[in-house]
Amino acid sequence: MKILILNGPNLNLLGVREKAVYGSRSFEDYFGELKEAFPALELTYFQSNTEGALIDKLHEVGFSYKGIVMNAGAYTHTSVALSDAIKAIDTPVVEVHISNVYKREAFRHKSMLAPYCEGVIVGFGLESYRLALQYFERLKPKQI
Ligand code: DQA
Repeated sequence: MKILILNGPNLNLLGVREKAVYGSRSFEDYFGELKEAFPALELTYFQSNTEGALIDKLHEVGFSYKGIVMNAGAYTHTSVALSDAIKAIDTPVVEVHISNVYKREAFRHKSMLAPYCEGVIVGFGLESYRLALQYFERLKPKQI
């Protein structure tokens, strides 16, 4: 079962960026742990700071992969183009956030993407990704 983890802008700086909010671990390090924890999921990881590259990736995998776990970073709150892309593809997307965006600035309370996602997991640190993968792992193949 192919699952993509898709990270948006500034998430390449996890472990370096605002550690009090996002923690001190790099995503590459955490991704290794996820691959071990979910051997049945064929996990791949892609990160880009560019909106178009994220859209291209959604188009590339969005008609063949079984699931996408997406943290669109700040584009979550602004991007009509990403929300259109999620709406356009067949593959279900689970939106994740490391921080609890509802405890933060008001502009982070709105997600342009959530209405087109299967669900949203917010505020559990990097473990938000693990929770999203558990959702895909527990689905029976015929359901997705
Ligand atoms: C984030 C929350 C966004 O508001 C922010 O712009 C990010 C990270 C999170 O994972 O908590 O870049 O998506």
